[in-house]
Amino acid sequence: MTRVIGGYFELENRFESEYYPNLIRLNTGRNCLEYILRTKAYKKIYLPEYSCDTLIEPILKLDIEFEKYPINMNLEPEKIIYPKQDEAFLVINYFGLKGRYVNSLTSRVNNLIINNSQAFFEAPIKGFDTFYSARKFFGVADGAYLHTEDAPEMDFKQEVSWKRSEHLLRRLENGANDGYKAYKRNEEYLSGKEIKLMSDLSYRILSGIDYSAVKSRRNRNFKYLHLKLKGLNGISFSDWDIDGPMVYPFYLENDDLRKELILKKVYVARYWPNVLQNIDEDKQEYKLAKFLFPLPVDQRYGLLDMDKICKLITSFLKR
Ligand SMILES: Cc1ncc(COP(=O)(O)O)c(C=O)c1O
Repeated sequence: MTRVIGGYFELENRFESEYYPNLIRLNTGRNCLEYILRTKAYKKIYLPEYSCDTLIEPILKLDIEFEKYPINMNLEPEKIIYPKQDEAFLVINYFGLKGRYVNSLTSRVNNLIINNSQAFFEAPIKGFDTFYSARKFFGVADGAYLHTEDAPEMDFKQEVSWKRSEHLLRRLENGANDGYKAYKRNEEYLSGKEIKLMSDLSYRILSGIDYSAVKSRRNRNFKYLHLKLKGLNGISFSDWDIDGPMVYPFYLENDDLRKELILKKVYVARYWPNVLQNIDEDKQEYKLAKFLFPLPVDQRYGLLDMDKICKLITSFLKR
């Protein structure tokens, strides 16, 4: 297309550079997994019990054998799996806190697929298929990055997201509740979709983000929560693991806290509702799905917000 010069303005946005300009841009994380499974032609995949049900979509679609494996309270596989030549072992870098652990696996395990959907800032490792989902960290309607070597040329259509960006604009202008239905519609739209290239709108938005500011804001918020809450948190991690995390995982065996936080307008998701349905109550994964509160630490918030969260939790515990 010939570039048009002049006329009315588009939505204002900074255009600098993406965080991963050299990775393959696709529409969703699950479709990155589909791409990997197709190109590597794996016959079987091992994946954690503690994961979202969307991950299973490409596996069912391609009719690949799968086996779920248990994880422990360190959010690591209970046992390392050594897949055969035509098998893959998928690991999730939970909340962006398992980078060092996943790194340590790369020297021991072949056919590892690294799911960095929750770890946007964890750089890919040469030789290991890795994917990222942008919606978990930024205000975009689609967008995922795939790191894989020797990728064959594939001719995908491009996703178009302007029609599905209503929730982003509504939340910005009118607040979270106003945009929620449109957000759900977009999530439903993405389910079962074919592999497409990332929309141009997402690409433009992701090229305008000040990533170092985002990362340091996330780190600062996370460290603040950790300082105040680590004594109460049933999950532990080291300060060395904090590098642009997704959320602060706070584990407390009292599900009423979720209601209390939501009532006080601190929206905490549940990772993942499907786990509660699929697994016995005495299992670790069930407990994680029930009692883990992913506290927001993202770039929209500052220390005053973090302090509010801490005070809500401590006063809840004093009741
Ligand atoms: C750990 C994990 N992996 C993969 C996905 C799928 O990402 P997407 O929705 O971009 O397909 C999700 C989505 O919630 C996730 O939590």
